[in-house]
Amino acid sequence: MKALIAAGGHATRLRPITWTHNKHIIPLANKPMLWYVLKKITDVGIKDIIINVNPGDVKYMSDHLGDGSEFGAHITYLEQRGGAKGLAHVVANAEEYLKGERFLFFLGDNIILGSINQFVDRFEREQLDCMIALSHVKDPHRFGVPEFNPDGTLKRTIEKPKDPPSSFAVTGIYLFNEKFFDAYKTIEPSERGEYEITDVITWYIQNGNVGHEEITGWWKDTGTPDALIEGNASIMDDTPREEFCVNCQLHEDTQIQGPVSIGVGTIISADCLIRGPVVIGKECKIVSSYIGPYTSIGNNVEITNSEVEHSILFDGAKIDTTRRIVNSLIGLNAHLVDCKRSHPKSGHRLIIGDNSFVEL
Ligand code: G1P
Repeated sequence: MKALIAAGGHATRLRPITWTHNKHIIPLANKPMLWYVLKKITDVGIKDIIINVNPGDVKYMSDHLGDGSEFGAHITYLEQRGGAKGLAHVVANAEEYLKGERFLFFLGDNIILGSINQFVDRFEREQLDCMIALSHVKDPHRFGVPEFNPDGTLKRTIEKPKDPPSSFAVTGIYLFNEKFFDAYKTIEPSERGEYEITDVITWYIQNGNVGHEEITGWWKDTGTPDALIEGNASIMDDTPREEFCVNCQLHEDTQIQGPVSIGVGTIISADCLIRGPVVIGKECKIVSSYIGPYTSIGNNVEITNSEVEHSILFDGAKIDTTRRIVNSLIGLNAHLVDCKRSHPKSGHRLIIGDNSFVEL
């Protein structure tokens, strides 16, 4: 079986971070988001993977993710042609690779804990035409939503309905057989001008045998800063303790509690408390600070006299503030410091990029 990963788009809800980063490369526990998707896919034995990327992004994405050999797999990077016209169009763009195949389609911003083994096994064992994974959500109107018949069978799936017929989201983990391209030919763009994947699934429900499974473990579409920070925390919770490792020399008085990873060349002063789960990158300098649970710190980060918790700090960030930093995304080379000048005392000096969000 092959897999197609959708990794294009502009992720406007994650600006300003996504002005310079493709969303799918954003680090979670210091690995690109797509690393976890690749791991899930290769863990079920799928080794032939196509990643759909924005035009011009092949080198950028492959520099971050490699050729798949790390996972014993082969990755083909495929540029999206014909503009952004919806998820079904993303699959159609890969027809030359997927024609005649049964395949897994995985949205690169979907993070799940646990394996997709059972899901793929059932699709193969029962030789289903299509299989979807559902998750119970509080806000189904933000997703594709299944509607059920009175006997519990699927009736159709609808994209972002104002009045959702159930409290499930159709997650971004789908299995299709070779009929996908026949289905695609029958659908029209929706009101928002997109070829909706939910319309293809409805075609399958009407013309074939569609299975559905509920994901009972943690699942998130990491489209917002809060979801991203939660994803970062959940991935750390899901990482076996023995995979955390300290690769630098620590002062004997430095307090390290719980699972903590620290990269080569990082210096942490004796009066620091690092309370895991925490992941710290290479060549960082942490002085007289507290780093609290669920914090990911990239490479070359400097933290002085500060308290940081439940946050993601990108490479090169610098923090030196008496204010406690929580639930935050601190972008590449961003600096956050206390005002050192005396006048005006109550002033805040801000140099913030477009679409930034600051809560003082
Ligand atoms: C997409 C799909 C939607 C699905 C969701 C899952 O929505 O269109 O059907 O429920 O992914 O993540 P988007 O995140 O692009 O708004």
